[in-house]
Amino acid sequence: MDTLKPQTTKNGAYYEVRMEEFRQKLHRDLRPTRLWGYNRQVPGPTIEVNRDEAIKVKWINNLPTKHFLPVDHSFLNSKLPEVRTVTHLHGGHTPDESDGYPEAWFTRSFREVGPFFKKKVYEYLNHQRATMLWYHDHAMGITRLNNYAGLSGAYIIRDEHEKNLNLPTDEYEIPLIIQDRSFNRDGSLNYPTQPDDASDDLPSPSIVPAFLGDTILVNGKVWPFLEIEPRKYRFRVLNASNTRGYTLELNSGQPFYQIGSDGGLLEKPVQMKKIKMEPSERVDIIVDFSKQHGEQIVLRNDLGPNANPDDETDEIMQFRVNKPLSSKDDSIIPRKLSTIPSLTQNKVSTIRNLKLVGSSDEYNRPLLLLNDKRWDSPITEKPELGSTEIWSFMNVTGFTHPMHIHLIQFQVLDRQPFDLDRYNEDGKITFTGPPKAPAPSERGWKDTVAAPSAEITRVIAQFEPYTGNYVWHCHILEHEDYDMMRPFKVVYPEDKR
Ligand code: C2O
Ligand code: CU
Ligand code: CU
Repeated sequence: MDTLKPQTTKNGAYYEVRMEEFRQKLHRDLRPTRLWGYNRQVPGPTIEVNRDEAIKVKWINNLPTKHFLPVDHSFLNSKLPEVRTVTHLHGGHTPDESDGYPEAWFTRSFREVGPFFKKKVYEYLNHQRATMLWYHDHAMGITRLNNYAGLSGAYIIRDEHEKNLNLPTDEYEIPLIIQDRSFNRDGSLNYPTQPDDASDDLPSPSIVPAFLGDTILVNGKVWPFLEIEPRKYRFRVLNASNTRGYTLELNSGQPFYQIGSDGGLLEKPVQMKKIKMEPSERVDIIVDFSKQHGEQIVLRNDLGPNANPDDETDEIMQFRVNKPLSSKDDSIIPRKLSTIPSLTQNKVSTIRNLKLVGSSDEYNRPLLLLNDKRWDSPITEKPELGSTEIWSFMNVTGFTHPMHIHLIQFQVLDRQPFDLDRYNEDGKITFTGPPKAPAPSERGWKDTVAAPSAEITRVIAQFEPYTGNYVWHCHILEHEDYDMMRPFKVVYPEDKR
């Protein structure tokens, strides 16, 4: 991925990014694949900024008017223009008019715009810690297809504190954006059509409930290798897949040193042999290859003991330590990385009990909901500006959902297991153990948290610095689109009701 260059730097950097259809070779044995990319790149160009330096980006929709992936004909999609986009900066503390609200979509040349349309040029203020965010499409009801087509990219915020830590940098610091895809024989992307639940009584099929591709891509390349020097590398890893989670490990058995999470550096590095990543989570890791000249090391995805031997998603990429050391490696893995003030010192104004639940739509087809509410039922979460709240995700669906909240970064408090069978019988929560503290690698700032089934996962956040309309949702894109997403509104204390 290239780093995006501004059109001008007068009064702060100004960028223009065009979403276009193009073809790109994703593997030497594959014919070029039709994709949608920001500036004709998949992943999109990396945006790099300094903390506190505001930038403006004009996101331009130059896409065709027909989607090349199977759009379902649900009520929503039959009413809205087939190709609509809006870009969200995931993890950013962004004023709502630039946040990429799902209903702030627009079509090519703005002939049609969503009900929340506010701005043509988005502004990012970057008043936040150094970290890797990402930008991606967030258009109502079609986020899964726009992302699958290629609309996502990395966004890196730098600051002085991090620069002074002497971490591996320049060509020794590399973003790794992991995604899964499936391909047809002609090289085109394969995305399944809807489950076969259409019938004469039903107006349309529902969307697929999950997507798992059979092929892994890193930075837009199928199962790539990277030629490296025997030294320390810093990898900024992002799981940008629709549904798939990964458990990273190195086949050499050596550890990762995790130094950061979604919201930037941890307090101290955590040595890890396996790292779990749900969709949209980021990990910042250092790997020390200094004693491995001549070796080939595979970044694996541990599929667990019940994996199907034909499943090839157990490999992600390869590191070939075949380049000579070009200069002495004087980067370090600092013992102390940063300071993270605990939000538990704050006064908590509200505790919200939020239920992740399986339900069914008006045609009796399954769907997943938050608090039993569809997207368009009135807003129920209205934190006051500056207040601290605990959001408690109670998952009764049977599997893990990565829960994401816009605007803020939160801290994970704990997870407490309960008896799901008992709950399904009598609707009551019976805890089966005490709350579990988050792992050391989760004790930093996060914007997405794994909320496992049969557990209550609690996070704490301060809702600032903006009022306005935002969303919280499951980051499995197939869930988010139908209908595991809800609005929330940060309000001034006086107009709470
Ligand atoms: Cu990464 Cu609401 O999104
Ligand atoms: Cu987000
Ligand atoms: Cu989900």
